[in-house]
Amino acid sequence: MAFLSDMLSRVKPSPTVAVTALARELKARGKDVIGLGAGEPDFDTPENIKAAARAAIDAGRTKYTAPDGIPELKSAIAEKFRRDNGLDYEPGEIIVSTGGKQVLYNALMATMNPGDEVIVPAPYWVSYPDMVRMGGGTPVIVAAGVETGFKLTPAQLEAAITPRTKWLIFNSPSNPTGAGYSRDELKALTGVLMRHPHVWVMSDDMYEHIAYPPFTFCTPAEVEPRLRERTLTVNGVSKAYAMTGWRIGYAGGPAELVGAMKTVQSQSTTNPCSISQWAAVEALNGPQDYLETARAAFLRRRDLVVEMLNAAPGVSCPVPEGAFYVYPDIAGCLGRVTPGGRRLETDEDFATALLEETGVAAVFGAAFGLSPNFRVSYAADDATLREACARIQRFCAALS
Ligand SMILES: Cc1ncc(COP(=O)(O)O)c(C=O)c1O
Repeated sequence: MAFLSDMLSRVKPSPTVAVTALARELKARGKDVIGLGAGEPDFDTPENIKAAARAAIDAGRTKYTAPDGIPELKSAIAEKFRRDNGLDYEPGEIIVSTGGKQVLYNALMATMNPGDEVIVPAPYWVSYPDMVRMGGGTPVIVAAGVETGFKLTPAQLEAAITPRTKWLIFNSPSNPTGAGYSRDELKALTGVLMRHPHVWVMSDDMYEHIAYPPFTFCTPAEVEPRLRERTLTVNGVSKAYAMTGWRIGYAGGPAELVGAMKTVQSQSTTNPCSISQWAAVEALNGPQDYLETARAAFLRRRDLVVEMLNAAPGVSCPVPEGAFYVYPDIAGCLGRVTPGGRRLETDEDFATALLEETGVAAVFGAAFGLSPNFRVSYAADDATLREACARIQRFCAALS
C-alpha cells in the first residue's frame, strides 16, 4: 500500500514559489540576486489597514470567526461588488477565504468529479491546472498565444467545450501575461457561453485594480448578467492593497456553490485569520487613494521594462494591459550559447542561465504552459528594474 496519496502523482510544487525560494536562498548565500519571480507588490500595506489590524488585536478580535467570514467583511465585499462591478450579492452568496488561492481551491474541490473538464487558457496562473487535477478533474489547456494578445478567442472556446466541460477559468488582467480582455472581447466569449448552459465561469479578478488606461476592467457576470447564476466572481485584497501576507481572498456566486465551498473550508482551515479580516474591512471601506498611487507606479515601471526588454537582442516584449507582469518571447535566443557555455534549448534553460550567470530571477514560460517565454514581475523599484533589465540586455547581447 502506497503511503503517499495517488493525487500527489498528478501535481507538482508551484514553480513560481520555487524560483522565489531559490532566489532568496542564493541571496542568503551572498550572491547578488535580483528577484523578479515573485507575484507580489513591493509596496508596504497602507498604514490605515495596518492600524485596523492593530485595533482588532487590541479589541480582542482574535477568536474563531464564522467559516465564511465576519458579517462586517461580507458587507464590505457586497458593497465593493456593487460599487466597482455593478454586481449584487447577498451575504449567503459571499465567502471569505485564506487568499484568493483558497477560494479557487475550495471552488474546485466543491465541484470536481472524475472526468470533469476545466478549460484553462494558456499561459495560465500556475496553480489552475494542478488544482483541477487535485480535485480529480482534467484541465483542458487551450493555447492563447501572442498572435491573439494572449487571449482566448470565441472560436477556441467553442472548440474546447464538450459535454464534460464544467468550468472555464477566466483571468483578466492575466498572470503571467498582463493581458486584459476588453468589454467587446469578453462579450464575445460570454456569447459562446450562453450557447452552453452547462459551463460555469470562474473569473479570477485578482488584478482588477492594476489596469492601465485605455484598458478598463470588466468581469463576466457584469458583461453578461444572464451568466451570473453560473459565475463565481473571485477577488481579493492581496494584489490590490499590497496585502499578500495577510491571506484574504473572497468570492461572490450562487448560494448553492458558495455553501458547498463553505463546507470544504469549514473542514480544512475553518476561517480566514480574524485580524486579517478586520484589516480587509478597512481596505475595502477605507480611503481608496492607494489604488491609484500603486497603479501609476506600476504603469511607469511597465513602460520602463517593456522598452528595455525590447532593446535586448532576441527578445520581443508585448505591452500588457494590466497586472505587474510582462511575458516576453525569447525565440530569438534559443539555439545560442551563453558566456558561461550553456546552450539554450528551452525557456527553462534561459531562466536558469539568467539566474546563474547574471543573478536575475524570473520564471520560465513552460511553467505557465506557453513557450518560449519568461515572466518578469515588475513589482520592484525603478532602479532595481533598470539594473535587472540592463543585465538581461547584456546577457542576450553576449549570446553566441
Ligand atoms: C491570477 C492569480 N490568482 C490568484 C492568486 C492568489 O492570490 P492570493 O495571494 O490572494 O492567494 C494569484 C497570486 O499570485 C494570482 O496571480
